[in-house]
Amino acid sequence: MGGPRALPLGGLLLLGLCGAGAWTGSADQVRPLVTLEQLLWVSGREIGEVDTYRIPLIAATPRGSLLAFAEARKSSPSDSGAKFIALRRSTDGGATWSPSSFIVDDGSRVDGLNLGAVAVDRANGSVFLIYALCIHQPQPCVSSTMLIRSRDDGLSWSRPRNLSNEIDLDKFAPGPGLGIQKRYEPHTGRLVVCGHRTLELDGIYCLLSDDHGETWRLGGALRGIPYGGPKLAHDFNPDECQPYELPDGSLVINARNQNFYHCPCRIVARSWDAGETLPHKAVTFDPTLVDPAVAAGAVVTSGLVFFSNPANDTHRVNLTLRWSSAEDASPWQRPLQVWAGPSGYSSLDVLEPWDAPGEPPTLYLIYEKGRSQSIESISLVKISLSGTL
Ligand SMILES: *[C@@H]1O[C@H](CO)[C@@H](O)[C@H](O)[C@H]1NC(C)=O
Ligand SMILES: *[C@@H]1O[C@H](CO)[C@@H](O)[C@H](O)[C@H]1NC(C)=O
Ligand SMILES: *[C@@H]1O[C@H](CO)[C@@H](O)[C@H](O)[C@H]1NC(C)=O
Ligand SMILES: *[C@@H]1O[C@H](CO)[C@@H](O)[C@H](O)[C@H]1NC(C)=O
Repeated sequence: MGGPRALPLGGLLLLGLCGAGAWTGSADQVRPLVTLEQLLWVSGREIGEVDTYRIPLIAATPRGSLLAFAEARKSSPSDSGAKFIALRRSTDGGATWSPSSFIVDDGSRVDGLNLGAVAVDRANGSVFLIYALCIHQPQPCVSSTMLIRSRDDGLSWSRPRNLSNEIDLDKFAPGPGLGIQKRYEPHTGRLVVCGHRTLELDGIYCLLSDDHGETWRLGGALRGIPYGGPKLAHDFNPDECQPYELPDGSLVINARNQNFYHCPCRIVARSWDAGETLPHKAVTFDPTLVDPAVAAGAVVTSGLVFFSNPANDTHRVNLTLRWSSAEDASPWQRPLQVWAGPSGYSSLDVLEPWDAPGEPPTLYLIYEKGRSQSIESISLVKISLSGTL
């Protein structure tokens, strides 16, 4: 969080605002500087006897806490298999973290849980974590979409609730990333969580809640082509995705381009009705966002869009942060390379400087990081947007 900013003299305050460093949030003013980096989880049976930590999520709460989540894959690096959901929490802007707690345990399932999307209701601070059970094989378990909720800033969590009947969608894998809450019309206050289905039942699907997460229903879908069957190289197959809202109230859903349709780059879907529909005619491709088919991070804050992924067309290496103006769809600015080596899934969120108006928000990036493979650890990076400590 921003440090103490209570300036005693009006004159000093004025100087501060008029000085070269005054933050207005324009894209060319961003000078991202990594001010802290630490590993939150390390794979290799050292922490909680967990084989592999993957699929990191980061969320900031309205009370200024940071919640970091990851899949703790108990006995192998496989996407299926039994897992915990691991959580660490920081109340000092990422300087220190609580020990790892395992907030969900799927037992010894053959095809266990998968993360997931975390959504925060700003109205009262409820935190929702939506995850999947049994989305891989046709085996003797029924795929389910599950939700847990915290009413106390991430300290304690409800028992898992089964959303499958409510949303009427088989094999849904939320995120991985952030669910968002609409800030602008239409449907201000709506919670929107997007994800994908299996490679056969493919495409992007969004879940919507208009009552602060009490009930959820299925919103729009962007289906793959050909739909419902095996894909070939370069077929249209939108996959893991991250939504964000532009100041005009439209949604962008930035998605993994699983089969490299059109380019080895990100699919950009849009919705002008708060996630009710994701029309094919609004789909574009962003050639700047070169991508090896992976889950990426995206978040909007103070009129800027931030995006993170391993920026390479074939390998999960070169974790890179980009930014542009959310107002005028300007080109992405000169990127910041965060880690040249192996790096995979990533997720972004921001802490707003509620206690220090005029200061830039602080950006948090969590990502899979390694020396020879990206799944060696989960790293948390704190980034100053104005380039100051
Ligand atoms: C948040 O508001 C919703 C809708 O009024 C309510 O159902 C829910 O219990 C509230 N949550 C908390 C943590 O107060
Ligand atoms: C979730 O609900 C669906 C639909 O009723 C059911 O088929 C599935 O077994 C439930 N899953 C769990 C884990 O209870
Ligand atoms: C890393 O990303 C930058 C920015 O997109 C790009 O210029 C560079 O070629 C990339 N390096 C590797 C090794 O992929
Ligand atoms: C992508 O990464 C691979 C492996 O590190 C590297 O050999 C290749 O040059 C990179 N591609 C670009 C365009 O930088």
